[in-house]
Amino acid sequence: MKAVILIGGEGTRLRPLTCNTPKAIVPILNRPFLEHLLLYLKGHGVTDIILAMGYLPDSVQSCLGDGSQLGVRITYVTEKSPLGTAGAVKHAESFLDGQFIVLNGDIITEIDLTDMIKRHQEIKPKASLALTPVEDPTAYGVVETDAQGKVKRFLEKPGWNEVTSNMINAGIYILEPEVLAHIPVSTPFMFEHHVFPALLKRGDLILGYPSDAYWIDIGTPGKYLEVHHDLLWRRDDSRVRTEGKSQIHPSARIEGPVLIGDDCIISAGATVKGPAVLGPQCEIGRGAVIEGAVLWQGVQVYEGAVLKNCVAGFRSRIQENCHIAEECILGDYVTVDSGSRLAQGTKIWPDGFTEPETIHP
Ligand code: GDD
Ligand code: MG
Repeated sequence: MKAVILIGGEGTRLRPLTCNTPKAIVPILNRPFLEHLLLYLKGHGVTDIILAMGYLPDSVQSCLGDGSQLGVRITYVTEKSPLGTAGAVKHAESFLDGQFIVLNGDIITEIDLTDMIKRHQEIKPKASLALTPVEDPTAYGVVETDAQGKVKRFLEKPGWNEVTSNMINAGIYILEPEVLAHIPVSTPFMFEHHVFPALLKRGDLILGYPSDAYWIDIGTPGKYLEVHHDLLWRRDDSRVRTEGKSQIHPSARIEGPVLIGDDCIISAGATVKGPAVLGPQCEIGRGAVIEGAVLWQGVQVYEGAVLKNCVAGFRSRIQENCHIAEECILGDYVTVDSGSRLAQGTKIWPDGFTEPETIHP
């Protein structure tokens, strides 16, 4: 079965991390995000994968190539202007044959896709949708089902007063090819708002596939940090993992789970307390403290600086004795001057970018 991964969104909510890097390839545990999703699909026997893209496509292509290094085959399909989740799949129609899978390109999950495919083939609905429970359904698409698992209603981003279930659309669909006939060509069109409600109206069977396996949408800075913490705890227990040669001073204190990229320098008396990730070529100065933070490639943390539960973008510099509080996001190449104290949730924008007045979801 082929899969289409939707990666056309602009990743607005992840800014400033996505100012220069598409959401599809932001590093997760020092690997481009999509690599995790491609390996997930490969793990379930799906190796023929179409990337339906919009924003900054070249960088994605140069990062992942034809997929052969990962043992998958990638076809790139680019929209001239965003066509929405369903319009993007319609745009890739000529590459599809038979049943196919559609995935939102911003999720990390352990949902049992093999079993979901098996159930789809047994019950033969027009569409199967993976469903996952969440605490705040208002940020997602709520899916109501009956006792047999038949989907009854969709409520995209409902208000709290409309929430009738904590089971949401997990962004994994198995679709019959006939579904494509309900999507117009070259027209912005959404599965969530248009296609699925229209199928229900026609009386077509849409089957929910509820799962309590691990699932996260990495779309916001909070979730971006959370997925690192989750994966580090789940996959590494309390280990300190190094990806190449790094210089770690014997008096530095490293407490796992920590992932240290290639070619890092950790100076005397520094502390790195997991769950934390250092990208390649990071330098941690004397006595600096990194706790729960994710540092991208080439980040320099000077002597005595403290970073807690925050993200520092590509080649950002945090000078002496700065204090970077929880949930701060530093864009690429930014410098935080000596002694600065950044309050919780501060975002520092890279040169040439400013914070938009409103961020539309
Ligand atoms: N190619 C293409 N073109 N992809 C798109 C477009 C487009 O016009 N618009 C969105 N996408 C991609 C995004 O890149 C992302 O990977 C995926 O479609 C979902 O878009 P988001 O913008 O992240 O949507 P969301 O997270 O608010 O809501 C969606 O995902 C939730 C689960 O994470 C919906 O599908 C919800 O129903 C669902 O619960
Ligand atoms: Mg999303």
